[in-house]
Amino acid sequence: AEQRVELKERIKRLLKEKQAVLVSHYYVDADLQDLAEETGGCVSDSLEMARFGRDHPAKTLIVAGVRFMGETAKILSPEKRILMPDLDATCSLDLGCPADEFTAFCDQHPDRTVVVYANTSAAVKARADWMVTSSIGLEIVKHLHEQGKKILWAPDKHLGSYIQKQTGADMLLWQGSCLVHDEFKGVELDLLKAQYPDAKVLVHPESPANVVALADVVGSTTQIINAAVTMDADTFIVATDNGILHKMQAAAPNKRFIVAPTAGNSATCKSCAHCPWMAMNGLQNLADLLENIDSPAISAANEVFVDAEVGKQAVTSITRMLDFAA
Ligand code: 13P
Ligand code: SF4
Repeated sequence: AEQRVELKERIKRLLKEKQAVLVSHYYVDADLQDLAEETGGCVSDSLEMARFGRDHPAKTLIVAGVRFMGETAKILSPEKRILMPDLDATCSLDLGCPADEFTAFCDQHPDRTVVVYANTSAAVKARADWMVTSSIGLEIVKHLHEQGKKILWAPDKHLGSYIQKQTGADMLLWQGSCLVHDEFKGVELDLLKAQYPDAKVLVHPESPANVVALADVVGSTTQIINAAVTMDADTFIVATDNGILHKMQAAAPNKRFIVAPTAGNSATCKSCAHCPWMAMNGLQNLADLLENIDSPAISAANEVFVDAEVGKQAVTSITRMLDFAA
């Protein structure tokens, strides 16, 4: 614990000294979330991370999250230096949607408006008309549907079918999934609900349809934290990465939070309710990164680069979302 406190102090000092700003996602290590908040950075969902990164005047941003979050920051601010504690932190949705296959799929359906989830590579975003995050995907698809547009959606099939059901839009779905949310189980959740009849169920829409069907609130990480604060209940069952409990518990200290049931327990299932890639962000690699921030080795190992041409194309789809959200 002592070492933890020391590392946190060192990181705080270095962030200031190197004039770098820390942006953390709700799924990363609790200390990294606290550090972001305590040092004038931000801890939030992927929409807010993108907006914060774009608007902050700092020349250096440290993104504690997964690769696509760093790339989105770079695409929105090519002039900024974007660093990540571990560049290998990826996402099963991104991995499951290679740009060449995706482009071929889009080419087969030229009549469809291409909407991609934020959890994709820069090259996939470059092929899209719109990029959306979980907090605003539904509204954007609703808007496009009202304009009579047919949609090609990628890559998350669960989020896609949830939005399809809610809006009635004509959506052709890529068949990707999040390895964390895909593990939540509807039947077991139903049994748990019976044990806690007064509990409200908060679900991230990357979860399977039979889990979403049992939800009282479906939303992005920020939206379900807000629901936990505002809803009149003492107990909540939460179907998303357990990293969120840190903020949820802090925001609603008198309430009780239970993680929704998954296929296995933590001994048998490495990705059950916690993203292995988000977990690659830690105090030690963040401290090491900051300590050596001026060395060329850091540029090689920790800096996010996006091809300028790809970035130029991708920025349009992201900016459409930010303008829509504004
Ligand atoms: P949010 O945009 O809701 O934070 O989700 C990002 C993510 O990776 C969920 O798994
Ligand atoms: Fe990707 Fe799922 Fe991890 Fe989010 S939790 S980064 S969607 S693998």
